[in-house]
Amino acid sequence: MTDGRMQAKARIRELVDQISHHDTKYFVEDSPEISDYEYDMLVKELRDLESRYPDLVLPESPTQRVSGKPLEEFPQVEHKVSMLSLGNSYSPDELKEFDARVHKLLGPGERVEYVVELKIDGLGIALLYEDGVLTRGATRGDGRVGEDVTSNVRTIRSIPLRLKPEGGLRNCEVRGEVYMPTDGLRRLNKEREAAGEPLFANPRNAAAGSIRQLDPRIAASRPLDAYFYTLSYTEGRMPSTHEECLERMRLSGLRTSPHTRKFGSMEKVLEHIASWESKRDGIGYEIDGIVIKVNSISQQERLGYTSKDPRWAIAFKYPPKQMTTRLVDIQVQVGRTGALTPVALLDPVQIGGVTVTHATLHNEDEVARKDLRIGDMVLVERAGEVIPQVVKPILDKRTGSERKFKMPVKCPVCGSDAVREEDEAVRRCVNASCPAQVMERLTHFCSRDAMDIEGVGPALVAQLVDNGLVKRASDLYRLSPSDLKDLEGIAEKSSRNILDAIHASLDRDLARVIFALGIRHVGWTTAAALAGSFGSMERLEDASEEELSKTEGIGKVVGESVRDFFANSENRRLVEELRRAGLRMEAPKSRAGPLEGKVFLFTGELKSMGRSEAESLVSSSGGKVGSSVTKATDYVVVGENPGSKLAKARQMDKKVIDEDAFLRLVGKK
Ligand code: IVH
Repeated sequence: MTDGRMQAKARIRELVDQISHHDTKYFVEDSPEISDYEYDMLVKELRDLESRYPDLVLPESPTQRVSGKPLEEFPQVEHKVSMLSLGNSYSPDELKEFDARVHKLLGPGERVEYVVELKIDGLGIALLYEDGVLTRGATRGDGRVGEDVTSNVRTIRSIPLRLKPEGGLRNCEVRGEVYMPTDGLRRLNKEREAAGEPLFANPRNAAAGSIRQLDPRIAASRPLDAYFYTLSYTEGRMPSTHEECLERMRLSGLRTSPHTRKFGSMEKVLEHIASWESKRDGIGYEIDGIVIKVNSISQQERLGYTSKDPRWAIAFKYPPKQMTTRLVDIQVQVGRTGALTPVALLDPVQIGGVTVTHATLHNEDEVARKDLRIGDMVLVERAGEVIPQVVKPILDKRTGSERKFKMPVKCPVCGSDAVREEDEAVRRCVNASCPAQVMERLTHFCSRDAMDIEGVGPALVAQLVDNGLVKRASDLYRLSPSDLKDLEGIAEKSSRNILDAIHASLDRDLARVIFALGIRHVGWTTAAALAGSFGSMERLEDASEEELSKTEGIGKVVGESVRDFFANSENRRLVEELRRAGLRMEAPKSRAGPLEGKVFLFTGELKSMGRSEAESLVSSSGGKVGSSVTKATDYVVVGENPGSKLAKARQMDKKVIDEDAFLRLVGKK
């Protein structure tokens, strides 16, 4: 081995250990020791070394978290030790019975300690570590055979790829729960809604759906986390208590819950359970109960198992956030992408402190699968602060007067055909100019996460569309005070504010512009990834499907969708008009100045300043001023009586902006 290679090998080892130490500090212990910048520098150095010496890449390297190709299917794996479930209890009396049984089986007078944990509503997972390195992650499956989801498990940043030596665990199997924090689920659902995709009903489905993605890049983009609660196997001495198991796991860098407590009696356990009933909403993830475990491992062994559950542990389940109410009607809404969504109209009902009147039904198959009929009494659930769901009809309450729901085959808004593609669950209105779609697209364009145009919400958009003032997003930028003056309820002052807000949106960055276009499957994160890797709308418009799918975080479906969007001449025309209106079509190259690296050209007279003042503004903001339209020109600023440069700029498809847009770019307005 050459000297350089030896040094690289040693440094790679060092960097991997350092980064994994900082990952534990940041993701597991929530107490980072270095800044994000310093961390990024370590990762960068590691990446550079690994690209120079690809054969020295360590399997536990943090750069390998997202790696490998999408799988065709998950391999099946047999668990080392069966993954059992837990018996459930719903009342203090049942827990007292459990306690009595434990004492009876262990014999009179024996002291029993209970460890009490939160029962997180996620997906059970088993991790295998060999020589300290994570080699396998598997779902529970039927308890005996699960699915090998290693490549997805590795993407969860709080899961150590190598165990820390402090815990003394090297060859072991641990179990825990993969879950999606409430915030993450809310964001993901918002994004799915924006991308025209079906929403996850609860955090459990979201976690399960994410860990069972064949493409690890998708799993990597999901906000997943994990807690570990069982040491199911270790080579060498097994700790004598469950408490010690948890401590050894914690010392090994595995994330264990800070809310675990130990009690010497069932009375104390019951008090603890009662105190958690009100605390459960404030911890950032859903729990569906509390798990009570006998602490001593030898007592656990003596108690043993029934045919399916351990006799040494039990779950106490909190009442679910469910209520029954009447399904009054099923309405059909038309979304931005034309998707027809059935929505349940409910008799108002209080669930977990919130009045619920509507619930999504996702699509026609879902209604049929659940056999929901209009007029049914139904069970409604609200989980993880997400949109309410209809769980099932209460069949006993059926009177025979209920009506079956039939999904319309015509759009309920414009009457065009509503078509269901073969491999799709949703039916879509085929008419791109359907007023409902136009409305939804515009509302999305103006929304907070998109162009953030304050004051332009669904009501105003409806007025603008109904009065024929706006058909497409680019029309917004052509509105004048006189256009707005006849709209009902809009005073002169608010019309000024609206126009100002619209103009202020010219300042939004490329990621927002891409998101605002409302391309199917392109949520906020995807839009940001596209902006980051393509750098300009122009390059994105011309990107091939192959280039797109090579982008980090972009799968085949997104790639196709982006291609399809730009293959449509109407969409291209919209982008062109937005470009002309002065929207940002380039990602910022650096933070040095707002115009860093941009080449400007002026033609015609400016109203607010002289040419030289304008030119010095450009240079002080980091940009350059050109004298003729060339390939390098980024913006052509047009004043009164422009010269031939304008025609040339148009011909060369340059970004042409007016004085106002220019002032906004340099932050003068
Ligand atoms: S112990 C034999 N502890 O709940 C012991 N399970 O309803 C089995 N769960 O399959 C598991 N939090 O996926 C245990 N602190 C916790 C848990 C927990 C959530 C899940 C786990 C299990 C299911 C049983």
